[in-house]
Amino acid sequence: MLPYGKQTIDQTDIDAVVAAVSSTMLTTGPLVKQFEHEFASATGCDHAVTLSNGTAALHAAMDAVGLREGDEVIVPAITFVATANAVLYCGGTPVFADVCPDTLLIDVADVERKITDRTKAIIAVDYAGQPCDYDRLRNLADRFGLQLISDACHSLGGSYHDRSVGSLADMTCFSFHPVKQITTCEGGMVTTNDSMIAERIRRFRCHGIDATAAARQVRNTHRYDMQSLGFNYRLSDLQCALGISQLRKLDAFVERRQAINRRYHETLTGVEFVTLLNQHTQRSSGCHLVVMKWDHRASGCDRDSLYHHLKQNKIGVNVHYRPVYQNSYYVEHFGPNVSCPNADAAYEQILSLPVFPLMTDQQVDFVCEQIIAFAKQQTQKFTSEYQLSEAA
Ligand SMILES: Cc1ncc(COP(=O)(O)O)c(C=O)c1O
Repeated sequence: MLPYGKQTIDQTDIDAVVAAVSSTMLTTGPLVKQFEHEFASATGCDHAVTLSNGTAALHAAMDAVGLREGDEVIVPAITFVATANAVLYCGGTPVFADVCPDTLLIDVADVERKITDRTKAIIAVDYAGQPCDYDRLRNLADRFGLQLISDACHSLGGSYHDRSVGSLADMTCFSFHPVKQITTCEGGMVTTNDSMIAERIRRFRCHGIDATAAARQVRNTHRYDMQSLGFNYRLSDLQCALGISQLRKLDAFVERRQAINRRYHETLTGVEFVTLLNQHTQRSSGCHLVVMKWDHRASGCDRDSLYHHLKQNKIGVNVHYRPVYQNSYYVEHFGPNVSCPNADAAYEQILSLPVFPLMTDQQVDFVCEQIIAFAKQQTQKFTSEYQLSEAA
């Protein structure tokens, strides 16, 4: 089975992890600081704080916003559930904004319509890897006094008007799950230019206490103080060793993803019933996903039939994502009437195609051939059904 995404691990990664596991500090050691330092400079921001995964990064960002019960945070309807869940963890209420049909990025005009006097923040998700419209979002956030958070779990290595993802919002959250641009197995990061926020997140990831075991050792004291409620969301030195090694290959990984994305666009553009997402000029995508839309109305055949056809041909396709509010938990807690028309319509049509740096051009061509063959079958079926009905 051709997976829809997978990690690229080479001997330098293995050597880095082996060296780290033989060192004296397996966690909260020097490799954590080194990874944070190198990540901050790669993304053009002042501070980077490692966390145990992207969900923990979003949770830490929501804590740093200072959410209270009843506060609202605007999130896009189409995203992984973790984006909205992070708001709930802090007692806030996620309010869903619709997405633009051509990119599935948050619709800034709908964000503005959803702002109330309880709104505290906006989480913009760089869906599939393309950065959102950060100039318009910044303007909106400043006008209404809101925090702007970027969920960049898809977009590491991307840029917006030549500014790197990681430096486009008040806080930016990343994930290093194996299907992402770089991996630490599980892992996450928050970047920010605000030193107070960075400090708060460091405390949050270590139980809310003011001094880690390593810091107490340096200061020659056993004393610490728990100043706020925190969690154990630390990333180990072993994982950071892998992260440092992977980060050095980020540009090459993203270039290959972009080349695969271009090949899909070149081959599938103009194929009946198939549309690929629109890519804005002045924005460079991290290309975590390549998403196509299948026109189920015109073809008379639903997206799931194409999904099963590709799966039968050993192509690992996926659907990202069902609108969050359609999940049972959200229906139970927010009622069945939450709806964003573009997101609902897109969900019937979207399919994520395989993309990962080790994927060959031949594999991309094979996926395209299967989609084209399926589209032709639907046209032929439609034509013969039409002829039959004419004859009758
Ligand atoms: C948009 C988005 N946000 C958040 C997350 C959560 O990241 P993690 O799996 O590292 O917790 C993901 C993970 O896939 C994601 O795609």
